[in-house]
Amino acid sequence: PKVKGWRGYDYYLYQGFWYDTFFLEGLVSVQEHFHPQSTDIFVASSPKTGTTWLKALTFAILTRSRLSGSTTSSLLTKMPHDCVPFLESDLAQDPSNRDLAIPLVSTHVPYSCLPQSIISSSCKIIYICRDAKDAFVSLWYFLSAHQRSENVEPLPLEEAFELFCNGIANFGPYWDHVLGYWRASLEFPEKILFLTYEEMKKDTAAHVKKLAEFMGYSFTLEEEEGGEVQKIISMCSFEELSSLEVNKNAVHRAPGTSIPIQNSVFFRKGEIGDWANHLTPEMGARLDDIMEKKLKGSGLKLPR
Ligand code: A3P
Repeated sequence: PKVKGWRGYDYYLYQGFWYDTFFLEGLVSVQEHFHPQSTDIFVASSPKTGTTWLKALTFAILTRSRLSGSTTSSLLTKMPHDCVPFLESDLAQDPSNRDLAIPLVSTHVPYSCLPQSIISSSCKIIYICRDAKDAFVSLWYFLSAHQRSENVEPLPLEEAFELFCNGIANFGPYWDHVLGYWRASLEFPEKILFLTYEEMKKDTAAHVKKLAEFMGYSFTLEEEEGGEVQKIISMCSFEELSSLEVNKNAVHRAPGTSIPIQNSVFFRKGEIGDWANHLTPEMGARLDDIMEKKLKGSGLKLPR
C-alpha cells in the first residue's frame, strides 16, 4: 500500500510500518547487508523523541576516558548526529561511514524490522520514547522546517495530525514502534534498555548512571566524586548544546535530499508538554485515547 504522506512524498507500508522511499531503500539495504560489531550499542528511537540528546549522552559516556588531559569532546565541534551515524541513512549509503573505535550506531528502525544480524548479536540497544503529543508537535515543526528549506508550503498542522493519528509518519505507527521495543525490552532486559524522555528529564543523573552501567561503561567512584556525571549532563544539556556555534549556525545534510538543513532545527524547545501550546485539548485527548487503546494490556504507560 502507498499513501501521500508528509512533505508530499509517497509513503509505503513495509513489514507493518510506513516509510518514504529514501528510508525504505535504506532499510531494505541494511536488512540485507548490515553486520554490526559484537560490541556495538544501538541508540533506537522514533523520530523526535530525544534521539539527539541520547546520542550526545551515550557518546559522552563512551568517550569520556579519552578526555582526560586537554582533549575536548567532539560534541563541542560536531553535532551529535555527526558523532553517531544513523543505520538506515548514513550506513545504508556507505557502511564505512563510521568510526569503528566508537561502537555507537543510531536507528529509527522499528524493532521487528531491525536487521537479523543485530537481533542475533550480542549488541545492546537503548530505546527512547516520549509522550505521543510532544513527539507529534516536534515532528511537525521539524518537517515544516524541511519543507520551508525546500520552498514547499508546510503541511497544515491539522492535516499532519490526521496522518499521525492514522499511523502515517516515517517509521510509524508511533504506538507500534514503542510497543515493539517495549515488548522486546521485557523479553531481553539485558539487551534492551527502555527509557522515556520525560523520566530522563526528571532525573537525568540517575539515568546517566543507568545508561553507563547498561553500556558497560559504569562510572567509577572516583569519577562520581570528581563530578564526571554532572559534567556530562551539563555538556549534553539542551541549553549547552543548542548554544554551541556548530549547532546554532552550521548546516546538516538532510537525508534523501541535497537541500541543507540547519543544525538548529534539531534543538527547538526541549520541554515536556509543549504540545498544549499547539494542539487543542480535543486533539490531545484524541491522541491520548489512541495511545491508551493501543498500549492496553502491554503493561506500558507512557508519561503524559
Ligand atoms: P522539541 O521539538 O519538543 O523541542 P530528536 O532528537 O529525536 O530529533 O528529538 C528532538 C527533540 O529533542 C526536540 O524536542 C528537541 O528540542 C529535543 N532536544 C534536542 N536536544 C536536546 C537535549 N540536549 N536535551 C533535551 N532535549 C533535546
